[in-house]
Amino acid sequence: MRVQLNSRLGKLATVAGLCLVLAGMFTAVSYSVTLYRLFCQVTGAGGYTARAAADTATQSHRVVTVAFSTNVAPGMPWHFEPVQSSVQVHLGQEALVFFRAENLSDKPIVGHATFNVTPDRVGPYFKKIQCFCFTEERLGAHQSVEMPVDFFVDPRLAKDRNAEDVDHIELSYTFFPSRDPQGAADLARFDGVKPSAAAGEKLFATVCGACHALDRSKVGPPLDGVVGRAAGSVNGYPYSAALAHAHIVWSAATLDKWLANPRGFIPGATMPLSVPDEVRRRDIIAYLASLKGHG
Ligand code: HEC
Repeated sequence: MRVQLNSRLGKLATVAGLCLVLAGMFTAVSYSVTLYRLFCQVTGAGGYTARAAADTATQSHRVVTVAFSTNVAPGMPWHFEPVQSSVQVHLGQEALVFFRAENLSDKPIVGHATFNVTPDRVGPYFKKIQCFCFTEERLGAHQSVEMPVDFFVDPRLAKDRNAEDVDHIELSYTFFPSRDPQGAADLARFDGVKPSAAAGEKLFATVCGACHALDRSKVGPPLDGVVGRAAGSVNGYPYSAALAHAHIVWSAATLDKWLANPRGFIPGATMPLSVPDEVRRRDIIAYLASLKGHG
């Protein structure tokens, strides 16, 4: 996908959203905003190390906790909950999170979501790239779905004196019965992600494959046989000093911490992507553990 992007967020949003849909990546991953576009442009291509490294600099060191909460209008027979109660993100880091909705009734219902960001002064800095907000959504009888929300907190928040003390942001959604059921989109479009080990292989291809191959170095080191291998130990790959001297062995437990927050687990490491969703981490790790290892 070769798209000339200008820096306007609107355009980026469209393309990023499109990539997301095309890649079928209904998974909880996060990228720096520019990396997102990098990912969309480079999947399957080579020669982008320098840009990946440069892009990590667009994120701020400041970390905020984003917590999620949900409501349904009185009398609406939907169960609606965030899949993860909160995530920690650097300013500028893109995160993909999920909300689960279930229609508890015997007939299809069209819902309409509104959202609110608190504290109020943070609202303008909370940027959503893809979400189900404001659209009319139909859920069939007893159907349940996971709905993605793809967001980042604008790094300009760091320059706002009024927001100096902000380290916690809350995003809440409320579903109301629709006033315009005719215009409904079908929420089933978000369905089809069932946690499974085989899902890990697909996630690896779509999420990790831009930077990792199994048997050779790309932007990241080869990952065949990574479970049981010492961190930072593939000959010839230019690891960060932090990873090269980490003195850990990759196991399900250490991989889980790494994927949840690489630079939190090993400060100074340069992998710019994280997978906040525990189920998806488990799928990916199960896939990595199933590989044989050639060397
Ligand atoms: C945008 C590029 C990028 C993506 C996407 C990416 N990685 Fe990485 N990964 C890297 C880089 C760069 C390193 C080396 C980091 C360092 O040297 O500090 C790395 C290192 C690793 C390591 C350590 C390997 C070793 O030899 O010690 C593991 C494990 C890993 N990545 C797993 C994954 C998995 C699983 C995914 C998908 C969920 C993924 N990565 C997605 C860039 C990426």
